Amino acid sequence: MEHISDYLCRYKNYIFISCMINAEHIDSLQSFEIRDSDIFLVTYPKSGTIWTQQIIISICELSGGLNEYPNNYEQMPWLEYMESHEPYSLRPSPRLFSSHLTPALMPLGLKDKKAKVIYVMRNPKDNIASYYHFSTVCSYMETPKSFDQFLEQYLTGNVLGASWFDHIREWHSKKDQYNILFLTYEDMILDLKAAVTKICSFLGKNLSEADVDEVVEKATFKTMKKDQKANYEFIPKEEISGNFMRKGQIGDWKNVFTAAQSQRVDQLLQEKLCDLSLKFIWE
Ligand code: PPS
Repeated sequence: MEHISDYLCRYKNYIFISCMINAEHIDSLQSFEIRDSDIFLVTYPKSGTIWTQQIIISICELSGGLNEYPNNYEQMPWLEYMESHEPYSLRPSPRLFSSHLTPALMPLGLKDKKAKVIYVMRNPKDNIASYYHFSTVCSYMETPKSFDQFLEQYLTGNVLGASWFDHIREWHSKKDQYNILFLTYEDMILDLKAAVTKICSFLGKNLSEADVDEVVEKATFKTMKKDQKANYEFIPKEEISGNFMRKGQIGDWKNVFTAAQSQRVDQLLQEKLCDLSLKFIWE
């Protein structure tokens, strides 16, 4: 394990928060026993994780058989952390997990293609803007001196989650090895009902129209912000002194990027990911 700053370390080509990583646990994930009914939500940080958690949890709740937990964090814990009180192997099915990891660190059993993976991508400029604001309120992250300094750190991949470009490339290029649904934050903003319907169909959950509408209502920014199980305000203020649910919009990047910084991201996208033919919605 290589410490790269006061807060971050590199392990197996991925960047973790030093005080949160347990290398033994990360190693053990390779042989983590997968159940066919497991559902994994995978994202690069600040791409709509807690939003998609709320959608998946609401769908599973309405289709019955989900164990109750005090909040979405405990209902759908991060695979890479061992903070949940109950060992993951003892959790009742269906188990729901969140993760920011890359394919190389994920359980090998996922390649049986039985358990389901939902991957959510956000346009990198809004991702950067959201990540920058989060870094200013998260006590586990270095407070950026300026947006420019944060941008530099992000573009070199020296942030939790490592390089956004690598994350996107690795999950897209390995997609045939997994039972995976790709979604984008922007598509969810533009048509939440269509996204919920897509997720229901991928999960094999046949919800009524009224139930789909209920999931959509529970997942709107306005409703979720008031939902104490979903808004992450249960995280102590000493750890996160601001809101997980900040603005929830497309295009907020324009409030922090200069034209030159925006062009730099465009150029990197062209250089690093043009062969993936990804479509981005910027506003
Ligand atoms: S984390 O820390 O990685 O789990 O963060 P993550 O949940 O991936 O991303 C946080 C951003 O998602 C926005 N968000 C939403 N947008 C729209 N609708 C809903 N319901 C919603 N819930 C969360 C949240 O506001 C963060 O984006 P920004 O741009 O910072 O507002």
